[in-house]
Amino acid sequence: MESGNSMENGDVPEGHRTLKSANQISNTYSQIEGGTYALKRDFNASTRLTAQHYLWKEALGFNLHPEIAVKPDWRVADVATGNGIWLLDVARSLPLSARLDGLDISLDQCPPDAWLPENVELTTWNIFEDPPEGFVGAFDVVHIRLITVAVRDNDPKPMISSLKNLLKPGGYLQWDEVDSVDWTIKCVHRSVQTDAMRRLFKQLCGTDDWKRDMVQTLNRHGFENASVYRFNYGKSMARFWNDMYFSTWEEFAKVVLKDPSGSHQLGVAAMDEVRNGSALFCPKLVWVARKL
Ligand SMILES: C[S@@+](CC[C@H](N)C(=O)[O-])C[C@H]1O[C@@H](n2cnc3c(N)ncnc32)[C@H](O)[C@@H]1O
Repeated sequence: MESGNSMENGDVPEGHRTLKSANQISNTYSQIEGGTYALKRDFNASTRLTAQHYLWKEALGFNLHPEIAVKPDWRVADVATGNGIWLLDVARSLPLSARLDGLDISLDQCPPDAWLPENVELTTWNIFEDPPEGFVGAFDVVHIRLITVAVRDNDPKPMISSLKNLLKPGGYLQWDEVDSVDWTIKCVHRSVQTDAMRRLFKQLCGTDDWKRDMVQTLNRHGFENASVYRFNYGKSMARFWNDMYFSTWEEFAKVVLKDPSGSHQLGVAAMDEVRNGSALFCPKLVWVARKL
């Protein structure tokens, strides 16, 4: 399940390679206005969440890590549930005796309550605030995926503390993210230009060093036996992932960067480079840990 990156002809290593790029990265995140969600919630954004869910599921081979053997009466929470696509997919794999809760600061992208299975509930919750009544220590499993843009000051500890509050002792946390630190651009040949793609993707990657230390951070902040699993995808899938990252960037550019003309030019140039035979390769990271 765990796999590493290997360099090949045409690979362009990225990630934390120059101080200059790190500064550029932190600049884009510092433009996120306090309390603003850095992506969109319209139907295109929701379609992206749906598409990427199935790409994730194919790349990982699971929704819940096999280490987490859910019992029929378990309670599962999906924090920052987005449009609820992960939660509803998991609900289809569990008996009705399991209870599933989706939580998000906004439920605008979710199906109406009346159309949810009887064992699924959605609740509005800001992860930086106290959990809703009845949710403290209530869950056997807490899942969270793709919350990077909301991590403040490169510090996941406030989120870890909130997620821990939801769990029963011994309960499992599963946290899934894109590896926005150790990513590469692969090309069919070294002559293919990738400058625009690199600039584009760096705008979307925060100062995400927290991902490097996450196992230790979890083990030091109320969890034990934390592990990280890294998943790569093959070249035949790279274009699909690439275009999904570009869609995410377009949302980020519209909401945060607010430079329509500059972003349009960058997007066009980057897509030219993609069509010439290059793509972003961003492994997926899955942390699993148990609450002490
Ligand atoms: C990129 S989406 C991921 C959605 C879902 N986890 C998935 O993988 O399909 C990020 C989600 O985080 C939610 N979010 C952002 N800030 C939040 C906060 N402070 N508390 C709770 N949810 C938040 C957003 O509303 C959005 O639905």
